[in-house]
Amino acid sequence: MAAQLQTRAFTSAQGVAAPRRQLRVSAVAEVERAVSQAQRRGVPEGTPVVPVRDLPSRPRRNRKSETVRRAFSETYLDPANFILPVFVHDGEENIPIDSMPGVARLGWRHGLLDAVKEARSVGVNQVVIFPKTPEHLKTPTAEEAFNPNGLAQRTISLLKDTFPDLEVYTDVALDPYNSDGHDGIVSDEGVILNDETIEYLCRQAVSQARAGADCVSPSDMMDGRVSAIREALDSEGFTNVSIMAYTAKYASAFYGPFRDALASAPKPGQAHRRIPPNKKTYQQDPANYREALREAILDEQEGADIMMVKPGLPYLDVIRLLRDNSPLPIAAYHVSGEYAMLKAAAERGWLNEKDAVLEALLCLKRAGSDLILTYYATEAAKWMAADKPSWR
Ligand code: PBG
Repeated sequence: MAAQLQTRAFTSAQGVAAPRRQLRVSAVAEVERAVSQAQRRGVPEGTPVVPVRDLPSRPRRNRKSETVRRAFSETYLDPANFILPVFVHDGEENIPIDSMPGVARLGWRHGLLDAVKEARSVGVNQVVIFPKTPEHLKTPTAEEAFNPNGLAQRTISLLKDTFPDLEVYTDVALDPYNSDGHDGIVSDEGVILNDETIEYLCRQAVSQARAGADCVSPSDMMDGRVSAIREALDSEGFTNVSIMAYTAKYASAFYGPFRDALASAPKPGQAHRRIPPNKKTYQQDPANYREALREAILDEQEGADIMMVKPGLPYLDVIRLLRDNSPLPIAAYHVSGEYAMLKAAAERGWLNEKDAVLEALLCLKRAGSDLILTYYATEAAKWMAADKPSWR
């Protein structure tokens, strides 16, 4: 439509030889009258003289200055919407993650606190914790997930002791603790066991709540886990601990750098023990849209407080679907692969990083998400703080 209009305008402005001469001869007086001096001032020589188009609607009027653009803006980003995902390990130094330049596995005692302090100083007061479990603590049944002295639990307590008003989210899934690299317990036949896994997810969620978590986030995609976790939390007295359900979590290639960060990718199987090489029997098929609604209806009935779509940008339609069909807050996870793509292009000078990142985050918001989990949270908040309008 826009292209069509432009083509028409172009054709009549430039014209083909004959009609153009006709226009010049017959309409010259009208043109002189119609084209205001102001519009003609400063136009480059050679600019065609044309009659004013009779356009009742000129949408460009609403974009004509920074003031009106700000006044009519439909969507705003606020650092208060951001959740910063943080990787921690049981050591002191910060270890850079190769596939995520600028992101590190933080030493849980110091590096983490510095990162959180920095995030809070620019208005980001929500974090989600991802612990890197040492290989020797991983087992097929992932009991380390609910060790009261585990890295995740210690990290949660330290954060809440240091920053009592920080909103601390946790990940509920077995993959960082599972020697097979799956979110659930794997049988010898290579089946990810649903109901058995839920039992351990409940223990994991309760242990995180005991450590002080404000919101637990099941990312495992087992059926029925939200209601089971709700019940487990309530029966232990944690009625105030929220649940952010990974409602529409897709079996996506964009999680690659995250699995590098935690060394949590599915492991190769053996002759007597088949381990599925991907998570397609529990995470959603990227081809599917209606299925997200089915998951959303269930998560809502089961008591989720927030529903998440993951990844973010490739799934804007799914964010919109959930936004239009549920009153719950919607979160979008701008995942590790999305971060890596932007970083890689920016490092090569192929994209303006700040503009591209802020646009990506704004689009997640415009699609209907209230919350955005992004590794860019702190950086974006800094850019936003520096982005004063020109009249101030
Ligand atoms: C674990 C989990 C994953 C992510 C968040 N929680 C990886 C996976 O499901 O394989 C991915 C986050 C990212 O890529 O940034 N269940």
